[in-house]
Amino acid sequence: MKQRKILVTSALPYANGDIHLGHIMEVTQTDIWVRFQKLQGHDCTYVCADDAHGTGIMLSAESQDMTAQKLINTIKQQHEQDFKDFSIDFDNFYTTHSEENKALSESIFLALKNNGHITQRKIKQLYDPEKKLFLADRYVTGTCPKCKSEDQYGDNCEVCGATYNPSELINPRSAISGATPIEKESEHFFFTLPAFSEMLIDWTRSGTLQNSVANKLNEWLQDGLRDWDISRDAPYFGFEIPGSPGKYFYVWLDATIGYMASFKNYCSRTDYDFDEYWRKNSDTDLYHFIGKDIINFHTLFWPAMLSSAGYRTPTAIFAHGFLTVNGTKMSKSRGTFINARTYLDHLDPEHLRYYLAAKLSSGIDDLDLNLEDFVQRVNSDLVGKVVNIASRCSGFISKGFEGKLSSELDSPEIIEEIQSHKDEIATLYDSRDYGKAIRIIMLLADKINQYINEKQPWVIGKDDKTSPELQKICSTGVNAFRLLIILLKPVLPATALKTEAFLNIPPLNWADANLLLKSHTINRFEPLVTRIEMESVQNMITETKKASGIEDESINGSKESATIRFEPQIEFDDFKKIDLRVAKITAAELVTGADKLLQLTLYLGSDGEGQPIYRTVLSGIKTAYKPKDLAGKLTVVVANLKPRKMKFGLSEGMILAAGPGGEDIWLIEPHDGASPGMRIT
Ligand code: 2FM
Ligand code: ZN
Repeated sequence: MKQRKILVTSALPYANGDIHLGHIMEVTQTDIWVRFQKLQGHDCTYVCADDAHGTGIMLSAESQDMTAQKLINTIKQQHEQDFKDFSIDFDNFYTTHSEENKALSESIFLALKNNGHITQRKIKQLYDPEKKLFLADRYVTGTCPKCKSEDQYGDNCEVCGATYNPSELINPRSAISGATPIEKESEHFFFTLPAFSEMLIDWTRSGTLQNSVANKLNEWLQDGLRDWDISRDAPYFGFEIPGSPGKYFYVWLDATIGYMASFKNYCSRTDYDFDEYWRKNSDTDLYHFIGKDIINFHTLFWPAMLSSAGYRTPTAIFAHGFLTVNGTKMSKSRGTFINARTYLDHLDPEHLRYYLAAKLSSGIDDLDLNLEDFVQRVNSDLVGKVVNIASRCSGFISKGFEGKLSSELDSPEIIEEIQSHKDEIATLYDSRDYGKAIRIIMLLADKINQYINEKQPWVIGKDDKTSPELQKICSTGVNAFRLLIILLKPVLPATALKTEAFLNIPPLNWADANLLLKSHTINRFEPLVTRIEMESVQNMITETKKASGIEDESINGSKESATIRFEPQIEFDDFKKIDLRVAKITAAELVTGADKLLQLTLYLGSDGEGQPIYRTVLSGIKTAYKPKDLAGKLTVVVANLKPRKMKFGLSEGMILAAGPGGEDIWLIEPHDGASPGMRIT
């Protein structure tokens, strides 16, 4: 087999947040693939880095009263330790705030500019006059210009789904200082992406993308590409654009270049040749593992930039779905937004690697970590099936034969059967269908256990612990176990290491599956994998919940600090105008075409003539409630709100709910003693 030279990356985590299990899923997927390629004998290099630039990091550092440099240094150490403890075997973990990245970003920018792929023009943006900062969409909140819902982000309304410019918001506020933003003009640099439509169509056709990703890209190409704004104004934590004081590269420009920079840094202390991997027409391979949320950066801007600057383009982009926990998006309040460190404090990283592998595929579907299934599957597969084989057989070898395996095996057939699946399993690892590979390996484990059950070594051992037959059966079992560990080694590196010590052998490679251990002395068996106790999982959840009580909801800078900011004070007379009533939800229905809305029918008691009063209200709680779970609930409604015409119909009131959004919205539910129509006083 020809040895391939492969460079692999995982997406760069932001340097202002903890590593959580979502990140761990991605690096585990990548690490398994890289380890597999290395076990095959390929020259595979895995690099990553912290994504250290941007407004989020600047503000994070400020709120912690430290310099951005100090923040990113501290976080980098924590990230590295977390990854190491999950056995993520980076060849280099660097930072985008590096000399190499600065030089590469500048030179790529200058190349784009020389090629006529950079234009400059003035744009108007919202600006925080107190903070003296241009505001990205997510830092502006206000009232939706369409449905008039309050507290919506600057680019879209979570209630009616409208999209707009932040300057269209009614009563906009800076989410950073609370000040009213002003419009301000500033000169920006743009990368002329439309010039690369043809190039991107060709690139997509060369088998670089999964089908679903290629379809998405085709949609974007058909809709027409737009110039990409690659500059940001000071203050900004990043690299200043050469020759343009006060202008910085947008974090996403130097983030992807950070892949190159991390490799360049690796080359400076090894024999690897940067140009060999990055020059146009390089015969090495380049793969990026990413989440499906950042496909546009990797399939549009990145290949286009590389091509303009005269570099090679990626061989393929491997996108994956999101990690959910117990069937829903990770949530701090439910204790399922689990940090890598919290997991490590309670559970074995090898267990999660196994579970993720067992559920990973090559597609972009979300992967669910169901915690009960996790405990059950790890205990049943790893402890009950795989390690059980070694523990059932090795004791007899130690006791009766001084640890020596027989020179012949009792069942060469079962060994051949395992070996016969080796290539199929290799193909599955190579195509990232780890779940399928694991299923085959577990079927093999079942067969080996069945073989041991049939041979009943414990019956033979009771009569004669030095019986040659006993030695042959148990040596078959130990060899079968060794083969399973080879097949599982990309997933379970720590278990493989312990197994190598137990079997008294040098590190196993994929090709070693063709060889067997005969007349070889092994060491005494020590438990290689321990059972998971549900209690440890519960403790991890409790700790996560506790931490969420004191931390804000910020996730990797996607939402900045959630300090409570109250609306301006109102007079008591204004408050008296609001007629709050207890209402009973009598029906809840989906609204065709709306992502977030449910149509609720509310019963508000009866009028003076005994006629029931019903109201129809459109409410943005679909992400948190299933219609069938709402019928019969009591809630509180603003009963005298003027009916509002919304995109999806008329809404005759507003119900009260609390929470950050998504699945975390809770309806205000009055005590059961309350009845429809009662006024809230
Ligand atoms: O979405 C993110 O978390 C980014 N920090 C990923 C960057 S990947 C690469 F392009 F740098
Ligand atoms: Zn709206």
